Amino acid sequence: MLNTLLDRWHLSFGSTAPEVVVRAPGRVNIIGEHTDYNEGWVLPGAMSRSIYLLVSRSKTGQHHWIAYDLDEEIQSTEEILEYGQYAWAKYIEGAIRLYAPELGPLHILIGGDLPVGAGISSSSALVCGILFALQHLNGKTESKESIALIGQRVEKEIIGVQGGIMDQFAIMMSQPHHVMLLDCRTREYKLVDADLPGCKWILINTRVKHALIDSDYNQRAAQCKQSVAIIQKSFPEVQALRDVTMDMLTAADLPEVLFRRSAFVVQEDDRVHQMVEALHHHDAQRAGALLKASHEGLRHMYEVSCDELDHLADFANAYKGVMGARMMGGGFGGCVICLISEDALEDFSIACVDAYLDRFGFEPEVIEFELSLGVDKVSTP
Ligand code: GLA
Repeated sequence: MLNTLLDRWHLSFGSTAPEVVVRAPGRVNIIGEHTDYNEGWVLPGAMSRSIYLLVSRSKTGQHHWIAYDLDEEIQSTEEILEYGQYAWAKYIEGAIRLYAPELGPLHILIGGDLPVGAGISSSSALVCGILFALQHLNGKTESKESIALIGQRVEKEIIGVQGGIMDQFAIMMSQPHHVMLLDCRTREYKLVDADLPGCKWILINTRVKHALIDSDYNQRAAQCKQSVAIIQKSFPEVQALRDVTMDMLTAADLPEVLFRRSAFVVQEDDRVHQMVEALHHHDAQRAGALLKASHEGLRHMYEVSCDELDHLADFANAYKGVMGARMMGGGFGGCVICLISEDALEDFSIACVDAYLDRFGFEPEVIEFELSLGVDKVSTP
């Protein structure tokens, strides 16, 4: 892939090599969904699928940005100002404006094998990747953690999604074979070995992304805040749902919907810690049971699933050799993450694609991946 991108670079920008090449991976999350913006815990990692960003300062005095996979190109400031039609350019422009406006016009080529809209954070990969490349160009020396936080600001302030810090932290700081147990309040994290002998983590992409995902996401975040405000009347020490127990929830007398949303978050936080134990003890059965419970909660209590995700999770959870599966990420489309015994993988992939095709009329994508390193510079051949 990188060689193809380098060929394209030389075709568009001449013989000089890009000043910097960065690889930015997608994000998976083993468990801990919708807990990050409630100051709780998550267990994400970076995946082997990724975006490459090739970047140089422009010598022509003009911006020239290319999204290779989409075959889209922007060649002037005027076009960038009309970036509404190019979603990817909006992220890049936002990152430059917030972090490195002094750099002036840039040549940028992006491309890779990270599916867009699949709930594996291609947008955060793009933002973190471009920030890291800009940092190389402007010579600043902030930590990777600071870059992750700037990435979150780009998504909040420019794009308007009230996301937590899970995606950016996982994309910037992950290590191969590991996931990170991240405390989203203190931002402390520790690496956890996620390899389970005889098993594999895989994703199945529904290939759907239902509209309204951003507004539904923001609405869930708002409901969690409302719950905290009510709980505080009885328990003034509570700052976020992370501080709440099931007993407190019952005592707080919340409206039914808010109770369900909050109970999910409280239980999901607890499942993150249980999953760390399960991984530590190489207990694949227990890990699978936690995935199943998480999916049930996301479906019925937090209500962020959809037919396609439920179908895949149900199919996987009923399949011999699958330890457990659940929807992953914000919801309303995207991927299911599944823990499966290596022996069952081939047959399962065929059966799962067939069943999905039968029901919905198109194929899902089974994605095999490794847990990989976070954003990093790449030396070119
Ligand atoms: C999206 C957000 C994350 C997180 C998940 C849900 O991926 O970007 O911050 O809130 O949804 O766990």
